[in-house]
Amino acid sequence: MAVNEFDHPFIAATYDQVEGSREDLDQYVGIARALGARSVLDIGAGTGTFAVRMAAQGLSVTAVEPAGEMLEVAQDKPHAEKVHWVHGTAADLSEHAAQTHLPADLAVMTANVAQVFLTDEDWLGTLRAVHENLTPGGHLVFETRIPERRAWEDWARQAESTWEAPGVGTVREVFEVTEVDLPRVTFRSDSHLPDGTVVPSTSTLIFRPLEQIQQTLAEAGFEFLEARDAPDRPGREWVVIARRLASPGTEG
Ligand SMILES: C[S@@+](CC[C@H](N)C(=O)[O-])C[C@H]1O[C@@H](n2cnc3c(N)ncnc32)[C@H](O)[C@@H]1O
Repeated sequence: MAVNEFDHPFIAATYDQVEGSREDLDQYVGIARALGARSVLDIGAGTGTFAVRMAAQGLSVTAVEPAGEMLEVAQDKPHAEKVHWVHGTAADLSEHAAQTHLPADLAVMTANVAQVFLTDEDWLGTLRAVHENLTPGGHLVFETRIPERRAWEDWARQAESTWEAPGVGTVREVFEVTEVDLPRVTFRSDSHLPDGTVVPSTSTLIFRPLEQIQQTLAEAGFEFLEARDAPDRPGREWVVIARRLASPGTEG
């Protein structure tokens, strides 16, 4: 059974095409370099674009992804054999300790993975699991859309589009924001394939205010360092950088 909307053969097979050239990942590569990271933990690694890019540069990479279909695409990429793949969530990492290069000195959640954790319990659980799998002083970097920018109002205007999926043909996509119940926004996208198949996909994302992100990071044992503008989406997304303290509530 599919674990989420990404766990579908069509969604996974076309994800990289839909996401394009991935300039958004350049900032993570730059931050990893600036921090001198040698090992990386990629949470919600998706089709593994960032994980294999880091592995190709010689870093030790552990990539966690719950959607099996996404993981299959990832594991087919050049350099995938150098990555330690974990089929699951951050909470599953302890079971796989023997096969990974953990703790890592950098953890990332690229492409708004941080917005999929809809409850405080789920979000804090993820932050705590990341904390356990980072070296003391290690960094956590993730991006999240700025709630005040109200991105869903732009999305509602992009109601219908067509695009070419290799090997499939022209796909007509019908998109709708179905519920705005802040801080959560739910949207649905139906992909109509040339053979008449409709692939429905429903997602809910949470738009956490920065103060709440800072507070939850502190609760999970991180020092908030900065929220910088995403270079490729200025004014729309924050790139949050935090540092792991020795244990929750300490300074070291
Ligand atoms: C928008 S995609 C981003 C994928 C990848 N990070 C990238 O940069 O392309 C969101 C990913 O988060 C994953 N995801 C959903 N729930 C998750 C959870 N609880 N823990 C970890 N990853 C999760 C999805 O399966 C999906 O692959």
